[in-house]
Amino acid sequence: MSTRKIGVIVGSIRKESINRKLAEALMKLFPDDLRCEILRIDDIPVFNQDNETAPIESVARLRREVAEADGILFVTPEHNRSLPTALKNALDWASRPYGDNKWAGKPAGIAGASPGAVGTAAVQQHLRSVLGYLDMPTLGQPEVFIQFKDDLIDGQGGISVDSTREFLQGFVNRYVQWVEKFAR
Ligand code: FNR
Repeated sequence: MSTRKIGVIVGSIRKESINRKLAEALMKLFPDDLRCEILRIDDIPVFNQDNETAPIESVARLRREVAEADGILFVTPEHNRSLPTALKNALDWASRPYGDNKWAGKPAGIAGASPGAVGTAAVQQHLRSVLGYLDMPTLGQPEVFIQFKDDLIDGQGGISVDSTREFLQGFVNRYVQWVEKFAR
């Protein structure tokens, strides 16, 4: 079996993103035979259908990386109870042109962090709706809504709270099984 590749899409493009920190901590929980890589979405322009058949290199790169991935893990904040602009933009670019949707068939997982107690529940529901249209089989449970506190991440970028780390390990294990189920 060749090494499976998981593309990790972080819905926030800000430098100190708590979702990026969560994504990096999650990546440490994957088995060694899966290669996880954060796919850049901060250097792609705002979607314009005029350019969808001849996109600039950053968009072509994203489309290529999505096509090559065996699964996509989304780790995203919630912006105004829905998808951050950067995430929707990336989803739109790699879904086009019509008939060449790079997301189709890729097994997806979703996680998110917010400083607020209920944060990311709403965006995750909206995201599930979009991923359904994009034909991505998406893991249903466990749902991962992390209320982010500064001491959640330790000095090595891992999860410092035992119960949270065990919960997230369970999520990653389920997601890995999910990817295998749809393996090419
Ligand atoms: C937010 N935030 C937020 N949080 C939440 O739980 N629900 C929400 O609907 C929103 N809405 C929202 C809109 C906009 C425009 C911003 C900038 C922020 C707060 C958000 O959870 C917080 O800024 C996180 O730190 C964002 O995640 P990253 O960027 O740190 O990964």
